[in-house]
Amino acid sequence: MLIYNNQHFMVNNEFANAVQKGLNDKQKHLSPKFFYDKIGSKLFEEICNQPEYYLNRIESQILTTSVSEIMNTLKEKEISVIELGNGNSVKTRILLKRFHANLNKVCYFPIDVSLKMLKKSMKDLSTEYKDLEIFGTCSDYVSGLRKVNEFMKMKNKIPQKKLLIFLGSSIGNFDPQQAKNFLHTLSKYMRKEDLFLIGIDLEKEKSILDKAYNDRMGITAKFNLNVLARINRELDGEFKLASFEHRSFYNKQKHRIEMYLESEMDQEVKIGTIEKSFRFKKGETIHTENSYKYSQNALNLLVKKSGLEMIRKFTDPKKQYALVLLKKVSGTAKS
Ligand code: AVI
Repeated sequence: MLIYNNQHFMVNNEFANAVQKGLNDKQKHLSPKFFYDKIGSKLFEEICNQPEYYLNRIESQILTTSVSEIMNTLKEKEISVIELGNGNSVKTRILLKRFHANLNKVCYFPIDVSLKMLKKSMKDLSTEYKDLEIFGTCSDYVSGLRKVNEFMKMKNKIPQKKLLIFLGSSIGNFDPQQAKNFLHTLSKYMRKEDLFLIGIDLEKEKSILDKAYNDRMGITAKFNLNVLARINRELDGEFKLASFEHRSFYNKQKHRIEMYLESEMDQEVKIGTIEKSFRFKKGETIHTENSYKYSQNALNLLVKKSGLEMIRKFTDPKKQYALVLLKKVSGTAKS
């Protein structure tokens, strides 16, 4: 078990600058990447267990029914599984368990921004699978993947065949153009024999989507509000959480869930570290997240020109969610 910690990429300066800029814009906004401090990562785990948040449950079901076929597509008996944003690695276990039992060698490379989460999931996995080699990288996705690639090239005992995985429909938090660019960047770290497994939430009835992002227990609300609590904790902010409401709804025209924090009153909030106060009118919002939902058509468009091609698509019987297996388009330059 080895951890490479590249965490300095998200020093508090970056958070402070983003908050200062985001709260100064006409439509106030904060990037969803700031949700995931220790508390936010825990809350996200709780969201995944809420009955309304179907994404995780369905993705696990699809993984269970498709794991044999995924394994057969790999063709090799030695493989390196690289996971972008592994969280608690619960769903990945479905793959790792099967690979571990049937292949000759499996190395696992989780990449995550949360060092705590990374350490915990690596520890749990190494107790469960004694001979699974795990190399964690605490980093953002692209620099993490670059590091893993460099590491793999240096070590000839590491299986060179890669299965890249990006689960949980995290791609939905990018807008479609960013998502395409992101896939294109990832494709540069793949060779023609490597595979990429990605989870994507599909477009569906508005009422199901609205409920998934407004669970009865109020966990999504806590998750959303945690970004203000984080400003209080880390940037000496004075947000009164009770004076902001969680708002989230499916915008059908834009094919996305939009998430906001709405000010319940006219107020001014001081943030000590950046030595500034920000005014909020009653009803004014901070945009905190988009979560895009893809139609089959939009999914094809996303993959098109991303440097990747779809070789298999697995869905649930109601076609609520898709797990897509991609490979590099032949002829694309490799890194
Ligand atoms: C991580 N990401 C895919 C989640 C989503 O569904 O967009 C984050 C989330 N936001 C609210 N609930 C869950």
